Amino acid sequence: MKSSNVIYHQASVTRKRRNKLNNHRSIVLWFTGLSGSGKSTLAHALEEKLFQKGCRTFVLDGDNVRHGLNSNLDFSEASRTENIRRISEVSKLMLESGLIVMTAFISPIKKDRNEAKKLISSDDFIEIYCKASLEACESRDVKGLYKRARAGEIKNYTGIDSPYEVPENPGLIIDTDNQSLEDSVSAILNFLELNEIIK
Ligand code: ADX
Repeated sequence: MKSSNVIYHQASVTRKRRNKLNNHRSIVLWFTGLSGSGKSTLAHALEEKLFQKGCRTFVLDGDNVRHGLNSNLDFSEASRTENIRRISEVSKLMLESGLIVMTAFISPIKKDRNEAKKLISSDDFIEIYCKASLEACESRDVKGLYKRARAGEIKNYTGIDSPYEVPENPGLIIDTDNQSLEDSVSAILNFLELNEIIK
């Protein structure tokens, strides 16, 4: 269903003015990778550093958002697509509000990530691939969910019986199997400075 007869209202406090006030650009850092690949850990560690530098930030985290906004979605392909679509829309609003938004969702389907990039705009979207082997994620198994998926208690588990499509051309690759958390955070901070997103 489409809303009809709605007319967009132009804000006078624009993104440009907010960015100037904040002294940094707003941006969406889109973390993608297998469950247990370190997306949330990395996003929160990065947020901590950015916050200490005085940046306005927010982390949207798969497990958390699925408790609220997306609590009516399961892990079917259609629900994952809808999960990512909603997060893209929320990220776009947060981008407008001047934030450095970090999204930590498996986002396993390339097409869904590309749609997110299109919606948000490629200039404002940086895909960060948290590269970790399934073996490493499974051996960590922080939440014990891989074990349950292997036992057949959870269906459609990413990497087990549901696909993860590796990004072809991400803005950044973080090798979370081999890189320390500190080095990973530094690599992203350097990237943000080099690209004049933060000072
Ligand atoms: S996504 O595929 O739709 O992007 P999302 O990032 O929101 O996934 O949620 C992934 C988290 O949900 C995992 O880290 C894990 O804790 C939990 N989870 C529960 N069931 C599944 C499943 N079938 N596949 C993947 N993750 C699952």
